[in-house]
Amino acid sequence: MAKQNIFILGIESSCDDTSAAIIQNGTVLSNVVASQKIHEAYGGVVPELASRAHQQNIVPVVDQALKKAGVTKNQLSAIAFTRGPGLMGSLLVGTSFAKSLAYGLNIPLIDVNHMQAHILAHFIEETDFKKPPFPFLAMTISGGHTQIVKVDNYFDMTVIGETIDDAVGEAYDKSGKILGLGYPAGPEIDKRAQLGNPKAFQFTKPRVDGLNFSFSGLKTAILYFVQKQTKANPKFIEDNLNDICASIQYTIIGILIDKLKKATKETGIKHIAIGGGVSANSGIRKALKDGEQKFGWTTYIPKFEYTTDNAAMIAIVGYLKFLEDDFAEQDVMASARLKI
Ligand code: KG4
Ligand code: ZN
Repeated sequence: MAKQNIFILGIESSCDDTSAAIIQNGTVLSNVVASQKIHEAYGGVVPELASRAHQQNIVPVVDQALKKAGVTKNQLSAIAFTRGPGLMGSLLVGTSFAKSLAYGLNIPLIDVNHMQAHILAHFIEETDFKKPPFPFLAMTISGGHTQIVKVDNYFDMTVIGETIDDAVGEAYDKSGKILGLGYPAGPEIDKRAQLGNPKAFQFTKPRVDGLNFSFSGLKTAILYFVQKQTKANPKFIEDNLNDICASIQYTIIGILIDKLKKATKETGIKHIAIGGGVSANSGIRKALKDGEQKFGWTTYIPKFEYTTDNAAMIAIVGYLKFLEDDFAEQDVMASARLKI
């Protein structure tokens, strides 16, 4: 097949965003995301509700992605979908849809690892964003993931560090819940952190071997701290909210940067690419910029819409795999715990 004009439909449904995107030779023509508001009321993603919402959203989202791109389904070269990791019920919706559509159109099906996609989102063609050179370190930080990956080539990746419990976004969201903030709390903690004193309160950083992370202890420390202080002053949270947020943010960013420093030292690699929703955080962005000056790092942050869960990142992996004729069979199955 001629490989000049390739149109890939990407489908993402691993967690609580239903997304479809069309990519033409690495350039995004459309990237439609339907986020599920329903989980806000529960303070976290409810898997059963997520899969039902995916079922409702998938057809209109794919339809919109095609329309926005000005592409008909008969022009599609292949369909790429998130095979895992993620919530099984959610993954099943995207997987089944992608399989049936590819079968109906008689075009190749491409399975995509969601964690690889967060990293390969850096290779979407975008004029104002530079691409990292191989080898580089990728840190994926979101509500579902916290990983440091050594990337030697598109499909030659090694996880060198990851969380042993909560993801960093969960640390934000669970801390926010303790403070009575809405879900997800990351953006508000970040906003308030910029108005507060990061050294007002101290939370001990976890001791975790190697390049791994742990965030569940921090959440417990914050809970006990707030309970104790509230006993003495029932308005403690209200009186100190910005300072508490700044102190939490300072601790979390410190944990991430310490491990990145260690990773760059151990690997000798100073190109660092960030992905995942937490990469929107002002503290991490500033710390990375500081790292450029202090440690000679070069850092890469993709366009925001490609850092949170989205189908454009699935489609770019689809495109890269298409170039290598790396296709899936019709009997491919969703895999909740798929590894890089
Ligand atoms: O990538 P994402 O949209 O979805 C997944 O979790 O996969 O990431 C969402 C997470 C939430 O935990 C949210 O609180 C966090 O990213 N987040 C932030 C910020 N913006 C989003 N955390 C800290 N600071 C932010 N500015
Ligand atoms: Zn994700």
